[in-house]
Amino acid sequence: MARPAAVLCLLLALLGAGSVAAAAWSAEDAEAEPASAGGPRPPSPKPSPPSPRPPPPPPSNARAWGANGFGQLGNGEIGDSAQDVVIVSGSLQFTSVVVGGYHVCGLEGGGAAYCWGKNMDGLVPILGVGEEFNGVVPQPSPVLGGHTFAALAAGVDFTLGLLANGSLLAWGSNNCGQLGVGDTDPRSVPTPVATDATFTGASAGNGFACAMRADTRTPMCWGRGDRGQVGDGAAVDRLVPTSVNLTDVRPSNKTFLSLTSGDRHTCMLHAPTYAVYCWGDNLARQSAQFGVNLVPVPKQAWSGDWQCSALAAGYEHGCCLQYSRDFPAEVGLVRCWGSNEYGALGLGTTSTTPVHFPEDPVAGGRTYSAISATNYAGHTCALEAGTGLAYCWGISFSRQVGGGLADSVYSVPTPADPQNRTFAAVVAGGEQTVSLVA
Ligand SMILES: *[C@@H]1O[C@H](CO)[C@@H](O)[C@H](O)[C@H]1NC(C)=O
Ligand SMILES: *[C@@H]1O[C@H](CO)[C@@H](O)[C@H](O)[C@H]1NC(C)=O
Ligand SMILES: *[C@@H]1O[C@H](CO)[C@@H](O)[C@H](O)[C@H]1NC(C)=O
Ligand SMILES: *[C@@H]1O[C@H](CO)[C@@H](O)[C@H](O)[C@H]1NC(C)=O
Repeated sequence: MARPAAVLCLLLALLGAGSVAAAAWSAEDAEAEPASAGGPRPPSPKPSPPSPRPPPPPPSNARAWGANGFGQLGNGEIGDSAQDVVIVSGSLQFTSVVVGGYHVCGLEGGGAAYCWGKNMDGLVPILGVGEEFNGVVPQPSPVLGGHTFAALAAGVDFTLGLLANGSLLAWGSNNCGQLGVGDTDPRSVPTPVATDATFTGASAGNGFACAMRADTRTPMCWGRGDRGQVGDGAAVDRLVPTSVNLTDVRPSNKTFLSLTSGDRHTCMLHAPTYAVYCWGDNLARQSAQFGVNLVPVPKQAWSGDWQCSALAAGYEHGCCLQYSRDFPAEVGLVRCWGSNEYGALGLGTTSTTPVHFPEDPVAGGRTYSAISATNYAGHTCALEAGTGLAYCWGISFSRQVGGGLADSVYSVPTPADPQNRTFAAVVAGGEQTVSLVA
């Protein structure tokens, strides 16, 4: 009982909402007053009129489960939680969250960014929230610089923030040039990416990142390139945004809708056809090509009767939210490809033989409205269409699949929240999952 209250007050104090914290304590004091025993009351001095007490703010709409070694569950604690699902500290109402390897960031309605989780790369703070946190930030803390963001993307130990005018900022670790700022020094505050281009979206992987140009709707990538992550055909690191080579994209209309990056690969949706193109590492067939171990420039993943309305690139896998012009009954099935060693494909099996073509949808027959896969471990989560229930599958060493056991593998979609809450978003990252209640 005392512990959550202390955590709440700590957070409120950090947010500068001291009066609200005082109100909460007064309410507790009032409860402790002895009940009137009846009989004539002794005259008591008139108390000074109570200061107005605003109702306590509602808790944050963010819920989290999984690993918490760096406070990435955001509930004020560090270390694995005994609870299945924890409430992120404070009363921020997030409109979106992104989950990196060991950290989480969210945008509240006005576009202000908050991050929590692992904060140190050597001596440099990487969450963009300052360094007064001893390396670990176990509750949402405001990102420095006062920017208003339209979207965020979280990689392993770094973060990208897209401004409403399309300019991109980056902060965090930069050992491979993943911030796109022209060098390999980490940045402790949001820093402009070194390009004149403006973007409509961004994705971040492990040591590299990509973004979709606003003018041409074509991708640029930067950072680690040893496995073809940059997509320019060169397989070397790039310190500034570099155009992805679209020579092998056959349609003449080479415009794209969205990007998603896994550990060492990226996939994107072709705008006119909803076909999938991937590049990067293919050792686990995560770039959906047969017979090659590296895909240096984007190649079409498969051609078939069905397309995708959304993609999620995972650690060594990818998943597609199916959209089929010809098979409306299949809209919303999820199909995954790549490594199935830890059940990432949701097929009810595990296998060391990777899959380049997602012949079967994930088990269970449900249809989903959203998917998300982690770029740093191996789980995937999806929201069931209609109900908003969260299901996850894959590796669950830190209970990131939710509800169940640690050190387990769930090879079929498994209910993530024992309370069956309706979620508006569920986001998988690292060994944790963060969701927003509807
Ligand atoms: C977008 O806004 C930021 C902040 O006001 C500014 O620094 C940047 O130059 C703008 N970008 C463009 C493309 O206008
Ligand atoms: C793009 O890739 C194609 C084939 O993969 C290659 O022939 C071409 O030289 C590349 N273009 C650039 C600008 O690197
Ligand atoms: C390319 O495809 C997009 C999406 O279908 C469409 O909006 C655009 O007009 C097309 N551009 C050309 C030049 O055909
Ligand atoms: C959640 O749903 C499952 C499956 O329908 C059911 O067994 C369980 O009792 C539900 N839990 C709650 C708290 O309603």
